[in-house]
Amino acid sequence: MTIKGYDMDQYVIKGGNPLVGEVEIGGAKNAALAILAATLLTEETVQIENVPDVRDTQVMLEALSNIGASVNRIDAHTVRINTSTVNSVCLEEDFIKRIRASYYFVGALLGRFGQAVVALPGGCNIGSRPIDLHIKGFRAMGAVVRIDNGSVNANAGGRLKGGNIYLDKISVGATINIMMAASLASGTTVIENAAKEPHVVDVANFLNSMGANIKGAGTDVIRIIGVRKLHKTEYSIIPDQIEAGTYMVAAAATRGDVIVRNVIPKHLEAITSKLIEIGCEVQESGDAVRVVAAHQLMNTRVTTLAYPGFPTDMQPQMAVLLSLCEGTSTVTETIFENRFKYVDELTKMGADIKVEGNTAIIKGINGYKGAGLVAPDLRAGAALVIAGLAAEGFSTVSDIVYIERGYEDFEGKLANLGAVISKVDSEAEVQKFKLRVG
Ligand code: UD1
Repeated sequence: MTIKGYDMDQYVIKGGNPLVGEVEIGGAKNAALAILAATLLTEETVQIENVPDVRDTQVMLEALSNIGASVNRIDAHTVRINTSTVNSVCLEEDFIKRIRASYYFVGALLGRFGQAVVALPGGCNIGSRPIDLHIKGFRAMGAVVRIDNGSVNANAGGRLKGGNIYLDKISVGATINIMMAASLASGTTVIENAAKEPHVVDVANFLNSMGANIKGAGTDVIRIIGVRKLHKTEYSIIPDQIEAGTYMVAAAATRGDVIVRNVIPKHLEAITSKLIEIGCEVQESGDAVRVVAAHQLMNTRVTTLAYPGFPTDMQPQMAVLLSLCEGTSTVTETIFENRFKYVDELTKMGADIKVEGNTAIIKGINGYKGAGLVAPDLRAGAALVIAGLAAEGFSTVSDIVYIERGYEDFEGKLANLGAVISKVDSEAEVQKFKLRVG
């Protein structure tokens, strides 16, 4: 995927500086994407705070405006939305296909209007990413769902009806989507084998703040008693677990000392426990975690799992770190089948990683050497930036449009921690940066 006009942007990095200092984490991207779509479920005005200002949320807001919603940005992270003026249930423009979370418009439009026509979701190419479980859920609530010309066409012929849905596979997207649609259905919906991620709970809290009746979010059975109407609310989104984890791992990979602020430490436990296991010091206090990596770190095994397991969205960053640890580590990916595309890039930097099936076998090396890198997707892109920060010499990371989908001011926050990094848009700028920082 290349978003026109942004394809020249790249990061140029001079590695070797430990990250030191404090970084403030923004609102959870994946909660925000669902919550923005869920504003369609009420005709009253909703104010959302702590919305991360990243490309994916910008696309969601653009989509809402396109179908007639009034979207007012109060400041960079606060938005006031009124969807009473929405005049279309169709979202098929090209820009919609850029993001995976467009599937939330199906649940939201179906809940509010009983029908939806939404382009099939795109997003990062990290596996086949079907939406069959979402569709199964909507059908169980009485909707007729077809895939026509690359769009999901769902019609309930009126109000959805509550139903019982067992998810064969734990899916964050399907859990949230069904929960949203069911909040305005008639009767009760039960989702079994539901995802338990913090943003599932956040979306449920948001919907409940509008008058929905959702119980059990955060466990594997969620019960939603449908209500006739939802009302206005003011809601602040939880901190982004993955943005926080990314800075924690960056601190460790550069042998730094970073306080990551505005987090919920409990949401970070899977990451924290792996960092401690390999030899980092991690201190939690209130809404902050401090990561110190003063010594050589040791190998471990990581397997991605649904929450509270180790998040798949932290897998590439963790692999970058494990490659700098002593001994042989393994990383097993159980959620998405195509998530090792960063390995070839790391090999250019001197990494010794072999992928066998869904496991990467990572032999520790002494250090990375700077190289010209291409971000294959959002999280792998962030991981390559971490590798560049830890490397000897200069690296460039291109296709950063992926990274900007999910990290707000990545280069600014890293520079604030002492990283030598700049966003540039031409080869001449790369050369200028090299001359400037020596
Ligand atoms: C969401 C996140 C993504 C994260 C992922 C897992 C958003 C926009 N994206 O993606 O960053 O990596 O959760 O935490 O919030 N599956 C099916 N059928 C479906 C739905 C999913 O088979 O209908 C499979 C997927 O292919 C995958 C697994 O279930 O193997 C989990 O996917 P899911 O949790 O739904 O991920 P996404 O919603 O795509």
